[in-house]
Amino acid sequence: MLKAAVLGATGNVGQIFVQLLDGHPWFEVSVVAASERSKGRTYGEASRWRQSTPIPEAVAQMEVVDVTPNAIKDVDVVFSALPSAVAGKTEEDFALAGYVVVSNASAHRMDPDVPMLNPEINCSHVSLIEEQRRKRKWDGAIVTNPNCTTTVLTLPLKPIYDEFGIKSVIVSTMQAISGAGYPGVASLDIVDNVIPYIGGEDEKMETETQKILGSPSEPADLKVSASCNRVPTIDGHMMSVFVEMKKQAESKAVAVAMENFVGEPQKLNLPSAPEKPVVVTQEKDRPQTRLDRMEGKGMSVVVGRIRKDPVLNGIKFVALGHNTIRGAAGCGVLNAEYLKVKKFI
Ligand SMILES: NC(=O)c1ccc[n+]([C@@H]2O[C@H](COP(=O)([O-])OP(=O)(O)OC[C@H]3O[C@@H](n4cnc5c(N)ncnc54)[C@H](OP(=O)(O)O)[C@@H]3O)[C@@H](O)[C@H]2O)c1
Repeated sequence: MLKAAVLGATGNVGQIFVQLLDGHPWFEVSVVAASERSKGRTYGEASRWRQSTPIPEAVAQMEVVDVTPNAIKDVDVVFSALPSAVAGKTEEDFALAGYVVVSNASAHRMDPDVPMLNPEINCSHVSLIEEQRRKRKWDGAIVTNPNCTTTVLTLPLKPIYDEFGIKSVIVSTMQAISGAGYPGVASLDIVDNVIPYIGGEDEKMETETQKILGSPSEPADLKVSASCNRVPTIDGHMMSVFVEMKKQAESKAVAVAMENFVGEPQKLNLPSAPEKPVVVTQEKDRPQTRLDRMEGKGMSVVVGRIRKDPVLNGIKFVALGHNTIRGAAGCGVLNAEYLKVKKFI
């Protein structure tokens, strides 16, 4: 078994890491780390566990430590679910101490020498690790996953991009409250309400999509316009997507391309890889957040309502993905599985 530390283990994403790693065939949680508020308490006390499955007993008894390399010994991989402001320097300290850090935070996502992996799409970007180690003079590495909405958007875009080409994408999101961390948006702000602004999110979707669909050194040449909204659902980010393609295609051909799409995680049979990264539903009123977010154990994106777009002369569809699983910890665990198979861990 490989030993894993989870930084930010008490938070929304940290708890999903602990949940997904419970019973994992390759990794086990051996260290949990969080802020001064939690340090010295048991994980059971500090986390105020909010998941529907029981807290893993062995982790519940662990003492929460500081998020510094000095406090953490003898682990093979570090999962980071820290707020971005803390993650920047902390993740660098861990990489400098020789650890491979698999991060959810935005701090290093757009660094040119840091792979931002959505592993069905751009595993080849791990080649950046070599350049990162050379330039930064460290033996460890930082590998990130994208923002939760970008993770969901790019999975159905990839087969369209490969088969038909994409000139531009317009996307409007309906994002769950858990995307804002714990305790997140105040209930008096979000119950019976929609908030048409999530700080920094439009820009993240626009730039991260280009990086993921591009080559390791060159962003993809497509334009993205995003408008992000917070809605009163708990988990699951839904989005309406409008795509201008280079080659015209019927909606049926687009659906077939999405359904047939698989990536390296499926070919390598990685433990957390969903059988289908994109599941296409034919029902006219699906996907729905509550009914479809756990498709593929929360690792698949569900797409529906694929149809012609009369304005862009392209297609439009609705996509839904689980933000804390596929969009965060699940993607991180899948990245770590890929890194292990490729002997980076
Ligand atoms: N939620 C999502 O859907 C989602 C999706 C993709 C990416 N992300 C990213 O993942 C990261 C975590 O998000 P989250 O939603 O899990 O946030 P969260 O619920 O607010 O959790 C934050 C975690 O970081 C710890 N922390 C806070 N300040 C710290 C400090 N100064 N030093 C050390 N530890 C500190 C907290 O520990 P205490 O409990 O001790 O305060 C907690 O464990 C963020 O970078 C976020 O942008 C989130």
